[in-house]
Amino acid sequence: MAKMWAGRTAGETDQNADDFNSSIRFDCRLYEQDIRGSMAHASMLAARKIIPAEAGGHIIDALEGILADLQNGRLEFNPAAEDIHMFVEEILTERIGEEGKMLHTARSRNDQVALDLRLYLKEETAKIIEKLKQLILVITDQAEKEKNTILPGYTHLQRAQPVTFGHHLMAYVMMLDRDISRLSDCRNRMDVSVIGSCALAGTTYDTDRFLEAKLLGLSSVGENSLDGVSDRDFAAEFLFDLSVLMMHLSRFSEEILLWTSWEFGFVELDDRYTTGSSIMPQKKNSDMAELVRGKTGRVYGDLVAILTVLKGLPLAYNKDMQEDKEPVFDGVDTIHMCLDVFTPMIETMKVKREAMKKAAQRGFINATDLADYLTRKGMPFRDAYKLSGKLVATCIETNTVLEDLSLETYRTYSTLFEDDLYEAIDLENCVNRRISYGGTSVASVEQQIQHTREKYKG
Ligand code: ARG
Repeated sequence: MAKMWAGRTAGETDQNADDFNSSIRFDCRLYEQDIRGSMAHASMLAARKIIPAEAGGHIIDALEGILADLQNGRLEFNPAAEDIHMFVEEILTERIGEEGKMLHTARSRNDQVALDLRLYLKEETAKIIEKLKQLILVITDQAEKEKNTILPGYTHLQRAQPVTFGHHLMAYVMMLDRDISRLSDCRNRMDVSVIGSCALAGTTYDTDRFLEAKLLGLSSVGENSLDGVSDRDFAAEFLFDLSVLMMHLSRFSEEILLWTSWEFGFVELDDRYTTGSSIMPQKKNSDMAELVRGKTGRVYGDLVAILTVLKGLPLAYNKDMQEDKEPVFDGVDTIHMCLDVFTPMIETMKVKREAMKKAAQRGFINATDLADYLTRKGMPFRDAYKLSGKLVATCIETNTVLEDLSLETYRTYSTLFEDDLYEAIDLENCVNRRISYGGTSVASVEQQIQHTREKYKG
């Protein structure tokens, strides 16, 4: 096929080389951004009288037509085209002839691809942030319902201290809140117009890059043309942000998998988000959570791929950079798929309060409170800690719990023990005394819920 870029060469390339070189099968996703970029460019060229106003008008009308035709399927991508930029320009020239050939004045595909990816990711980032807000509100609603539900809090996966399930859930809200803040930050760094870098060095034409930025709704203009076409930091940063987000969803998924096991039995997922086994009729598997956990690996892979592509590249554009798009698209698709199933899964999950309470009663999770009790009565904390440990050991030997030991037994260990010790180690009291800022008390969780709703409820 004859190439638009056949300047110095005769333009005959090997078929395999053509296929290898072509990116249309994946960068066709950027058609809208590419066309919008071209429309802004044509407007600027006409406004600056670099091309005749009439030609500018014809180009813009034709581009609008191409966009509409692609949107409603009247026009199909040509798999033989080299990339989306060439494809659009080829169709444009096919449709309006000579004037179409004026569009590529004072720009380069290097500018186009850098611009298109920024515009695309700016939009996708906004969509992902919206979905994260939804998830945050869903978790917050569950937290509100479960603000009095006591379960063991764990460290080292060993029962540690009582917490409320509301508090536990709100911990994930905090993580997602940081994810939103990271993505919003990253979005600001995408919000830069790099069109007009003109391959690498700028141009001799009297262009107006600020007008192009304004037409495209971008907040600023790249200050250095070499950087403009070489920079993919924003894409790497975006994939890092998605990786951290996936890490959070994966940790949450891991907990859901533990909670839905027979051994824990803390949570039951709605049938719509579980699967059965082809052989074991009793099974109800939490495949969605497992898949979210599993897909985390591929998003990490996307991040590592883009970082590796970029690490050895000299300035400015190199064809290696064509490899930036598939990881980005894969990251975007994976996040949307995960969030679309994760949010309703959390929304519909049933909490088994009794099972949580039972687990809380059997793990000596009030032992710290017993030590604190003695400390309040005047015993140094280290001694109180040791003595409480001994009492726990006694309970384990005699198969009982701290609540059921008699006051007499307690007093053989220390005469500081009095009747009020039972109130001190009552699980509900243990939770509600943790009134320190950010603690697990109901009042604190209510405050977390309120702050979150103020921030995210429209
Ligand atoms: N398809 C290319 C990419 O995705 C577009 C830019 C090509 N520029 C060039 N001078 N070959 O990166």
